[in-house]
Amino acid sequence: MKHRYLGNSGLAVSRVCLGTMTFGNQSWGCNEKASQELLDAYIDAGGNFIDTADLYAETESESILGNILKGKRRDELVIASKCWFPMNETPNARGLSRKHIVEACEASLKRMKLDYMDLYQIHGPDPYTPIEETMSALNDLVTSGKVRYIGCSNLYAWQLVKANAVAQQRNYAPFVSGQYLYNLIRRDIETEIVPACVDQGMGVLCWSPLASGLLTGKYRGVEVPVPGLRFKEVGHILNDRLIWKEALELVDLVCEIADQVGKSPVTVALSWILKDYAITSVLAGARSVEQLAPSLEAGEWDLPDDLHAQLTAKLPREHGYPCDWMKVALVSNFTKTELEPNRAQRFPPLS
Ligand SMILES: NC(=O)c1ccc[n+]([C@@H]2O[C@H](COP(=O)([O-])OP(=O)(O)OC[C@H]3O[C@@H](n4cnc5c(N)ncnc54)[C@H](OP(=O)(O)O)[C@@H]3O)[C@@H](O)[C@H]2O)c1
Repeated sequence: MKHRYLGNSGLAVSRVCLGTMTFGNQSWGCNEKASQELLDAYIDAGGNFIDTADLYAETESESILGNILKGKRRDELVIASKCWFPMNETPNARGLSRKHIVEACEASLKRMKLDYMDLYQIHGPDPYTPIEETMSALNDLVTSGKVRYIGCSNLYAWQLVKANAVAQQRNYAPFVSGQYLYNLIRRDIETEIVPACVDQGMGVLCWSPLASGLLTGKYRGVEVPVPGLRFKEVGHILNDRLIWKEALELVDLVCEIADQVGKSPVTVALSWILKDYAITSVLAGARSVEQLAPSLEAGEWDLPDDLHAQLTAKLPREHGYPCDWMKVALVSNFTKTELEPNRAQRFPPLS
């Protein structure tokens, strides 16, 4: 398994991270025994990076992890969790207040039977808590030794830049990672989020890298996904925008390329994401070792340049304004120079 540094931090993580949202999930997940098998297979393949959240399977994912991590080399693993989602109906059991962040972190540590977490992430933005309060609370977790690094997930680009500016002004720990939805079909983060993370020295971790299973090819020719599968269960977020003609044509191309190179479509789809060094790691979700195997292969196998280019071109992302304006104004004004543009900020692709 190949590893990458998490943004500008010194933390080395596997480029395939084990997502544990299936652990203990009753409708589209797996039980503790299967979770143990997944963890064993992942570690045997050289993986060191495990992602969970208090939300997953209503805290059961963290509890299962607490049981199955027994006997593993804790110091060799990078364990990440998250807080933000409501844990019960009471007003302070959610969001990013100092009270909730500290309580949520302590509860996660207890469930996972850990003294510290390597990466603690906010699962989304809290519109009611000042970012200064949130960053101060996260920094306290770092200085108290409960957490080594902090990260965010699902924030707007301006929010993560503002949060890190607050951290820098006050000498707090900054976010070293952003966890976002990204796959061959949903490429939204290329426009603002990835350039913001690169600017901030943050690594990008990708959730739903298989578009909830669509990119495995198993829904080709299927009109209505079957209940009890990940794809069906996240319909409100993804399905409507995923199943359209062009997306299915892209899945066909992934499958064709997979045949051509003798790999699974899963390996091809994940390797396409990992071709970009701004992306640190893809979060592999699976309910069995058989499902996980082709994702693990993407930890080693690199997609050839020409096939990467074919896939990138198949369903290009419309970046909209201000990218359209940049295509004309920025390119004509700043690239007609003899200087090599080695200091340029990263913009979304302009061609
Ligand atoms: N930060 C966030 O907001 C956020 C949100 C979502 C997820 N996450 C993280 O990202 C991880 C992955 O997310 P995801 O589950 O949406 O990822 P995904 O890679 O898009 O989908 C994974 C699902 O695809 C199916 N699958 C995987 N490999 C397969 C194979 N070889 N053959 C057939 N089907 C296969 C399985 O579902 P079925 O068997 O049910 O089809 C599996 O659960 C999660 O575990 C979690 O750690 C984070």
